[in-house]
Amino acid sequence: MEDLIQEARRLREEAEKELHEVLSLPSLQEWRNRHLSKKAPLSALMARLREAPPEERGSLGAGLNEARKALEGLFGEKERALREEALTKKLESERVDVTLPGRRDGIGAINPFRLIEDEIVQIFAGMGYRVEEGHDVETERYNFELLNMPEGHPARDMQDTFYLEGEGLLRTQTSASQAHVLEENEEKGPLAIISPGKCYRRDDDDMTHSHQFGQVEGLLVGEGVSMADLKGTLALFARKMFGEKREIRLRSSYFPFTEPSVEVDVSCARCEGKGCSMCKGTGWIEILGAGEVHPDVLRKGGYDPERYQGFAFGVGIERVAMLRYGIDDIRRFYQDDARFLAGFREED
Ligand code: PHE
Repeated sequence: MEDLIQEARRLREEAEKELHEVLSLPSLQEWRNRHLSKKAPLSALMARLREAPPEERGSLGAGLNEARKALEGLFGEKERALREEALTKKLESERVDVTLPGRRDGIGAINPFRLIEDEIVQIFAGMGYRVEEGHDVETERYNFELLNMPEGHPARDMQDTFYLEGEGLLRTQTSASQAHVLEENEEKGPLAIISPGKCYRRDDDDMTHSHQFGQVEGLLVGEGVSMADLKGTLALFARKMFGEKREIRLRSSYFPFTEPSVEVDVSCARCEGKGCSMCKGTGWIEILGAGEVHPDVLRKGGYDPERYQGFAFGVGIERVAMLRYGIDDIRRFYQDDARFLAGFREED
């Protein structure tokens, strides 16, 4: 039975030699299957122990066991070494170089609609106007009735809108804020407010029309307020918005809640009033509607029109933004096209 031990030694040497060639964890597993599993030749030798005479079995068994233990020990060492190596490699390849310059993420930009809305608000806030937030959802009372547009009034048709189930509608004009402010002012005295926000109309969308658009409403009430005050205020606004050289022109118009009513044009900044494609050859561009507050609107708001007068105006936000930035299509404001918006990013 000496040959059993010799065979074991040979198997062990062979396994050790093979182990030198093992360079990865998967091939180490294969090595283990070959030399240490139940089907390995060394295990077969163990089975043969039974054939040995009983008095030799003890020392033979110890010899075979030693070979097995030795290989198991080598396996453990090799496994540790390979794992360590793999970890080192991983750390090396995933190392973060903190000295590299950072990569900039795409930074958003403020929509030109908001830029202009803010600017209009700033200009009037600078003249002492208070900002009054309105409501996108209104009742017919504030959107129409208190503004001299009773049920069936033809002017309602021009502003046909989205009616909500039950009571309420999406406001067609920020002028609804006028009605709220007059009614809610308990002193029934002088006031000056602006009210920016979105309006909605059942319009077919095209280059210059959208079913939603922004307005900034203005309302000033005081004693002896005249059209001259309105004109002076709007001329100042136009110059601050479009440049020192701008002039304004009032054209007679109609709104049910103002009397007299006007449409206000600003002299074209591109051609200095000579006439170009932007102003359609007229030298003037319409920017807002305005007028003296109708006495009936004051009365409906609880004011005494004998004592107080006022003026009101409504500036179209997109219209001003289109003129200021040379934007040709109103739909661009709502499309969230990053390339369009990038043009309005403030340099940092
Ligand atoms: N609300 C009017 C519109 O939407 C504009 C306007 C506001 C006119 C205030 C006069 C006074 O067309």
